[in-house]
Parts: sequence; C-alpha cells; structure tokens
Amino acid sequence: MDTVLIVDDEECIRQELAAIIEEKGRRLLSAGNGAEALEQLGSEKVDVVLTDIRMPVMDGFDLIKKTRQQWPSIPIITITAFASTETAVQALRAGAYDYVTKPFSIDEIRNVVSHALQGRRLFKEVNYLRGRLAQRYSLDNIIGQCPAMQRVFDTISLVASAPCNILITGESGTGKDIVAQAIHEHSPRNKGRFVPINCGSIPEGLLESELFGHVKGSFSGAVSHKEGLIQTANGGTVFLDEIGDMPLALQAKLLRLIQNKQVQKVGSTRQESVDVRIIAATNKKLDIQIAEKAFRKDLYYRINVVELALPPLRNRGGDICLLASHFLSCYSNLLSRKVNKFNPEVTKAFHRYPWPGNVRELENAVERAVTFCTSRIIELEHLPRAITDYLEDRMANGGLLQDRLANFEVNCLKAAMEANDHDLALTAKALGISLATLYRKMKKLNIHPGRRITAIAPESKSNQQLQHYP
Ligand SMILES: Nc1ncnc2c1ncn2[C@@H]1O[C@H](COP(=O)(O)OP(=O)(O)OP(=O)(O)O)[C@@H](O)[C@H]1O
Ligand SMILES: [Mg+2]
Repeated sequence: MDTVLIVDDEECIRQELAAIIEEKGRRLLSAGNGAEALEQLGSEKVDVVLTDIRMPVMDGFDLIKKTRQQWPSIPIITITAFASTETAVQALRAGAYDYVTKPFSIDEIRNVVSHALQGRRLFKEVNYLRGRLAQRYSLDNIIGQCPAMQRVFDTISLVASAPCNILITGESGTGKDIVAQAIHEHSPRNKGRFVPINCGSIPEGLLESELFGHVKGSFSGAVSHKEGLIQTANGGTVFLDEIGDMPLALQAKLLRLIQNKQVQKVGSTRQESVDVRIIAATNKKLDIQIAEKAFRKDLYYRINVVELALPPLRNRGGDICLLASHFLSCYSNLLSRKVNKFNPEVTKAFHRYPWPGNVRELENAVERAVTFCTSRIIELEHLPRAITDYLEDRMANGGLLQDRLANFEVNCLKAAMEANDHDLALTAKALGISLATLYRKMKKLNIHPGRRITAIAPESKSNQQLQHYP
C-alpha cells in the first residue's frame, strides 16, 4: 500500500488535498507543520510527502532539508504560491522532487502524486532486486571449504576493493561467472552496473560495435547512434567472458581502453573517457594462445594483474557433497519436494565421477534427481545416464580391483536371486553362504530384494516375524 503524507497548516486544505488524491490502495496521513511531519516520517512508512512551503514551527524548506538527510529516497512535492518561480526553484534546489503552484488543478495534483509514487515504487523494486543480487552473489552463497576454494575466497576479499583488473581461469562450469559477480558486489563499484559480455557468442563483425558503440551511418546497419556495452558499465565492472575468443584487432582496442581509460565508437574520431574495471575469464590456456600468436602478450599482462584459478570440481574433495547438499535443498524448496537425502551409493558415485562439466553438471544432476525422485531419498536410478553409464563402464572395464570384484559379486548375487525366484533362503543355499552373509552383502552392495520376500531376517529376535530387507 502506498502512503502519502500531506503537510499543510490549514486543516481545510489538508482535507481538500486528501479528497483529491484519495484512492483505493492508498493510505493518507496528515501533519500541520514540518515538525509534526518529521514525527510521522519517523514512525510511519511514508512513500511521498506533499507539503506546503509557508507554515509555522517548521516551514517546507526545513522539512525538505531534514527529510533529505534522513530519508533521501522519499520524494517531496511542494505546493508553492502562484507565480512564485523563485520559491519553486529554491525548493527543487533543496531537494524537492517536483512542485505545483497554487491555485492547483485536481488533475495536476493527481498526476504529480502518481508520478512520484511510481518513481518510489521503482526505487523500492531496484533496491529489493539489488539486495537479492548482492545476497545471491555474497561469498556465503559460493560454497567451498576445500583449501583451494578457501584461497579463492581470501583472494576475492583482498582484491575486491582494489582497482586492479582480474583474470579468472578454470574449466567450464567451475563458477567463473558467480565469482566475477561476487567481486563486483564486494567492490566499491557495486552501485554501478555489472555488464557481462560473452566474447565468444557475439559474431566477430558485431563485437566491436557492441563493445565500443557506433555513430549513426558508420556502417550500413548503423541507423542510429549506439552506446557501447563498455560505456553502459561506466562506474561499474565489465566482465569479459571467454576473452580468449576475442579477435586480435579488438584486443588492440581493449588494450587502449585499459591503458588510457578511453573508448572510441566505430565511425567516430572522438575519444570518450570511461571508468570501468575489467574482470576477464577464460577456460582456454592463454599462454598457449600467446605462443600461437592468437592472443596479445601485452594485453595478457594488463588483464592478468591478479589471477584467480578455480579448481575443477573433481579436485575439491568434500566440497562435492557440500555442493550436492546445497543444490538438494535449493531444488527441493524450489520444486516443493520433500527430498532431503542421498543414498550413500549416490554420494559414493558423486566422488567417483570426474565431473567434466564441474559444478554446473553437479547442479543439473541434482535438479534432475529431485525432479524424478518420488520419495525422500535420491537413489542411483535418479542420476543422469552420463553418470551411471560412466560408473558401470568403469566397474566393468577398468578401475580399481575392489570395484571390479564388487561388480562381479553384484552380478552373481542378482543372477542367483533371479534363478531362485527371489527367495532369499534358497538363494543363500544355492550360493553356499548363510542367509546372514547374503543380507550383509546385499546391504553393502545396495541390492534390493525382488518381489518375494519370504526369508526370516537373521537378526530378528522373533522367529515368527517376517521382515522386509532392512
Ligand atoms: N562454489 C559454488 N557454490 C555454489 N554454486 C556454484 C559454485 N560454483 C558454481 N556454482 C553454480 O554452478 C553454475 C555454473 O557456474 P558459472 O556459470 O559461474 O560457471 P562458469 O565457470 O562461468 O562456466 P562457463 O565456463 O561455462 O561459463 C551456476 O549455476 C553457479 O551458480
Ligand atoms: Mg561463465
């Protein structure tokens, strides 16, 4: 609900204004002078102030100044005497949002209040989204306890507030994007924009004008003047993703930007100043590209003032499970599911799989598993084929001796169970092992009994009691 505070020393004018701007979904408050208004501002959530200038105790100018100091985002509209342009200008200078002159028309008052409320709503929305963004990219949301990730966090904290350019390296899906955003959010530039530019996905012919802008008529498609992405990030951060894909000609122009802090639009001879921090990322080996003359060495040194190397997921040890649990609770909430656990076999699989797609692949795997899981526990069957196929293949065709033996044992047990119509007592007898041993092996190898469960569980105290496998 929007709240408008009406400030005037004359009760009848307050009532008149209230009658004009009264609307469904709007709350109206009133005050007889500036001091009373400040009291209301201190205790109520006010979105717009509509105030007279000349009032006893505290006039409109004082009210504007004090409101600006304490609640700078609340728009103030002043009502000034007819033809008193000087007062209006004075009010605007003091920080008023707009003014109306007496005698005012109903439409004029309604329009100016609606505009101010609209601006206020946008302000609140931007603030809310900024907060969400900052929260999403807070270091708390980047999961990592392994020593390599701890070093990454330490470096982020050290360099975020420094002005230096940064190069983030790491395989695809290791978190280069979220780390770049986190650096921006923790830097003094966080009021400015974070502008990501994927150098690999913009066609080469367009990249220059996308980055640096163009002037009207500079090429056949340039029907109007266009601001470059770099200029839109003025005061903020430009994130040049896949910098290894940037054509050599543009690398020279980028080098000029870094050295001189100036950009030149396509088709223009004018240099324009711009203040941006460059964070670049690559999953290519830039030193190899330099050796192959595909990347400029001087640019490499300019962007690589600090290098943040993100480790591949397979080298992050316990972080794999931490990340998996994090994604499990995220997607469980998002999809309104009650899934809250991984079967230990799944956790084992997570550690054995090499994760070529890194954290992104793990996130996708967990999202898929939550989608297909109908109970509370994620089982191997819920994982994507890429993971289960890899593990089966490794068990069958290579890998550790213990994995291969386990695989052989699983196949033997399953075949015997099948041959004995899933009667566990008969299966144990056919295999020449005790029923207790069969149970133990089934538990260890994560084999579930088939349709018929007729055996008496060996650990059961009561001989009468039929039990389901554990
Ligand atoms: N340490 C982490 N903690 C939580 N989520 C992470 C972490 N690392 C990556 N992610 C998530 O994994 C996904 C991939 O991360 P991101 O896009 O930053 O990777 P990238 O290295 O930029 O990939 P690419 O090379 O393909 O551009 C994102 O959804 C991101 O939120
Ligand atoms: Mg990326």
